[in-house]
Amino acid sequence: MSIILTYQLDEEDIRHGIPEATILFIFGASGDLTRRKLMPALYHLARESLLPEKFKIIGIGRRIQTTPDFIRHMKHRVIQYCSHKMEARYWMTMANNMESLIADYHEEDTYQMILKKIETIEDSWDEKANCLIYLATNPSHFSVIVSNLSEFKLNLPRGNKWNRLIVEKPFGLNELSAINLNKVIGKYYNENQIYRIDHFLGKEAIQNILIFRLFNIMFQPIWNSKYIDHIQILNSETIGVEGRVEFFEQTGAVRDMIQSHLLQILAFLTIEPPTNLDPENIRDKKVDLLNAIRVYKTNEEIERNCIRGQYEQGVVNSELVKKYRDEIGVPKDSNIETFAVVRLFIDNERWKGMPIYLRTGKRMPKRKTEIFIQFKDTSEEFENRKLNKNSIRLEIQPKGGIEINIGWKPPGIMSDIEPLTLNIDGEAKIKEPKAYERLIADAMRGDSTLFVRMDEILSMWRIVDPIIAYWEKRKADFPNYFAGTKGPRQSKEFIRKDGREWTKI
Ligand code: BG6
Repeated sequence: MSIILTYQLDEEDIRHGIPEATILFIFGASGDLTRRKLMPALYHLARESLLPEKFKIIGIGRRIQTTPDFIRHMKHRVIQYCSHKMEARYWMTMANNMESLIADYHEEDTYQMILKKIETIEDSWDEKANCLIYLATNPSHFSVIVSNLSEFKLNLPRGNKWNRLIVEKPFGLNELSAINLNKVIGKYYNENQIYRIDHFLGKEAIQNILIFRLFNIMFQPIWNSKYIDHIQILNSETIGVEGRVEFFEQTGAVRDMIQSHLLQILAFLTIEPPTNLDPENIRDKKVDLLNAIRVYKTNEEIERNCIRGQYEQGVVNSELVKKYRDEIGVPKDSNIETFAVVRLFIDNERWKGMPIYLRTGKRMPKRKTEIFIQFKDTSEEFENRKLNKNSIRLEIQPKGGIEINIGWKPPGIMSDIEPLTLNIDGEAKIKEPKAYERLIADAMRGDSTLFVRMDEILSMWRIVDPIIAYWEKRKADFPNYFAGTKGPRQSKEFIRKDGREWTKI
């Protein structure tokens, strides 16, 4: 039987607290993130009347087009990436308030122009403006932008208004650079002005993980390694690097997906039950958990627990796609991984000895993010029948459903127990940019609940840093999987050696 699960933004709650007279500056407005995620999210906010009436979007970039071309281009992207048919009246409320600024992040003139722009807008509004600054550039520009903003006092609130900074992930490229970046930002911004984004935390299905495991008595007592055999967290994408070569060559799959999104999912799944759902309390628990994850110190441990891959040309969604090394701008001998598997262990009482497999890849056969929880195969027998192997599948996307596998006697004369799948379907119509929509609205409302605290970021870097450092020093035998397949052959063998199987993609 299927039940439909719908996720709805509580628009009333969100609308409450969105302030008037706000300017959103997007640094990196000519990039992929802006067109694929931020603009569709802003359009949805416009559509749901969640944007302030006095609102401006200023896109800043080195390669950005002039305002009319920028607006035209963004319109096409919103049409392409929104699940709703675009409605002109909503688009116009946004487009009429959009501008572009062709500017170099390193030049003083840029910040002079921003200041002028704010003053002109304030004059026309006849009041001071709230400023929300979104750093969506390549992370290597973050420090320069922040220092330059402060030179022109663009980090300070204007009058009684606020000034906030959203910083895209990855925050730094390793633990040390994250500490340094945080020092630079911390010099000019108070902690309550900084919003470190991990857009997966804006996804409803991820927010639901805690509720699912903590507020259901039937799962709570068995949520440990005594009953759970292993957990898999999968992120499979059909897209490649989408013109983000410069970014991806600095990051790779582990920095891009595991250090942030997948470790956050893992934390929600495995933290100790908090005494209440206060965000700081949950963050404390997440840090405790992340600090309990075993860090691989030796090359042998990394070799034994991690696998990397890079895609060869292949067919995805019936289309022939080129290999990673043939993407414009990728060096012919690129050592960057587009696929990774990392097997982790949490060294605490609850999760002692139980493996957690994180798996992520680009150019895979299907888009899917899911959690798979396999319960133990009990060796006990009941009337000569083996007990069924239970499992739970929590789909994060595209639909966000739940699947529970139980043992069942099929109708008829008493026979063997058969597995039965109970399905709770996710709402298929769930809107794509929902996560960003939610988080941008939260930042405007001053609610940092779904943003990441600095100590979480550092703990996550400590887990992945040795793996990345080890891989950077050693040339891999790439490419090693065809686009449109489930990753390199070693990945399949890897889990088989553990006597397990990957969850289906
Ligand atoms: C981003 C990564 O953070 O998340 C991208 O940089 C990835 O490489 C994206 O494609 C996946 O997010 P979503 O919401 O599209 O699943």
